[in-house]
Amino acid sequence: MKAHAVSTEGYLVKREPYYEPQGDEIALFEAAYRNQIPVLLKGPTGCGKTRFMEHMAWRLSRPLVTVSCHDDLTASDLVGRYLITAAETAWVDGPLARAVRIGAICYLDEIVEARKDTTVVIHPLADDRRVLPVEKTGELLEATPEFCLAISYNPGYQSVLKDLKQSTRQRFIAIEFDYPASELERRIIVHESGVGAEIADKLVKFAGMTRNLKGNGLDEGASTRLLVHAAQLMQRGVAPRPACAAALSLALSDDPEMLAAIVAAQFPRHSPTMPRCLQPSMS
Ligand SMILES: Nc1ncnc2c1ncn2[C@@H]1O[C@H](COP(=O)(O)OP(=O)(O)OP(=O)(O)O)[C@@H](O)[C@H]1O
Ligand SMILES: [Mg+2]
Repeated sequence: MKAHAVSTEGYLVKREPYYEPQGDEIALFEAAYRNQIPVLLKGPTGCGKTRFMEHMAWRLSRPLVTVSCHDDLTASDLVGRYLITAAETAWVDGPLARAVRIGAICYLDEIVEARKDTTVVIHPLADDRRVLPVEKTGELLEATPEFCLAISYNPGYQSVLKDLKQSTRQRFIAIEFDYPASELERRIIVHESGVGAEIADKLVKFAGMTRNLKGNGLDEGASTRLLVHAAQLMQRGVAPRPACAAALSLALSDDPEMLAAIVAAQFPRHSPTMPRCLQPSMS
C-alpha cells in the first residue's frame, strides 16, 4: 500500500481564537487530552462549543478536523473510500482517518445526528485501544498520543430515538456548556461586534427573557450567536429594530403571536400590550 503523506496544512488554527472561559473547561479538556481520554461537549446551540474547540486546538498546537454529522453520514464518509477514475483506483481517507494520521483533534459536531452504525466506528478509537480499523484497505490505524476525539451534542433536542448509546457516551468525559453569565456574555458581544457596553447589555437582558420562554412558546432561547449577529448588524449601521427583528425574533420563531410578543418586548414604547412575562425590555 502506498504510504500516506498527509499534510496538517489547512487544519492548523494559526491565530488565537478569542474565547472567554465559562468555568474550568480549559483545564478539564487539557487534563483529558494529556490522558488520551475523548471528550463530549454538551450544550445548547450557539453557546460557544465550536469556538472552544478552535481555541483548544490552537492552545494545544494541534490541527483541528471538524465533521458536521447528519443522518446520511456513513462510516465510509468518516473513514474513507476508493475513488475510481479513468486512470486509476485510489484510496481517499475520510476526515476521521486523516485526523488519526496527522494526530489532529477530530471534532464530530452533533454526533447524535449520525446513524447508529456510523457512530460505532469511533468505538475502538474512543477506548484505550485507540485504533481505527479501515476494513476496505485492511489497515489498522493506530492513534498517536497527540490524536484526540471530541464530540458535541445538544441534549435539549434529543428524542428517545436520537440519543447517544450508553456504549458510546460512556467512553467520554463530558463537559457541560451553557449560555455565558451576563457579564461574560456582554463582554463577548462587545468583543465580537464592536458595539458599546450599553447595547450589549440590552441584548443580554433580552436574551434572558427569551430563555425564560423556552418550553413556553419558544423551542430555544436566543443564543449568544444570535446576540452577536444582532450587534454586528447594528455596528454596521442597521437600526436596532430591524437588526433585532432579523437577527433575533425572526430567527427564533415563525409563530406570528410569539414573534409579535418578542418584538414588543424589544420596543415597548411602540407596543403597550406587551405581555408581562416579557418585561423588563429593551427600549
Ligand atoms: N465563551 C465564548 N467566548 C467567545 N465567543 C463566544 C463564546 N461563547 C459564544 N461565543 C460567540 O458565539 C458564537 C457561537 O458560538 P459557537 O459557534 O461556538 O456555538 P456552538 O455551541 O458550537 O453552537 P452549535 O451547537 O449550534 O454548533 C461564536 O461565534 C462567538 O462569537
Ligand atoms: Mg458548533
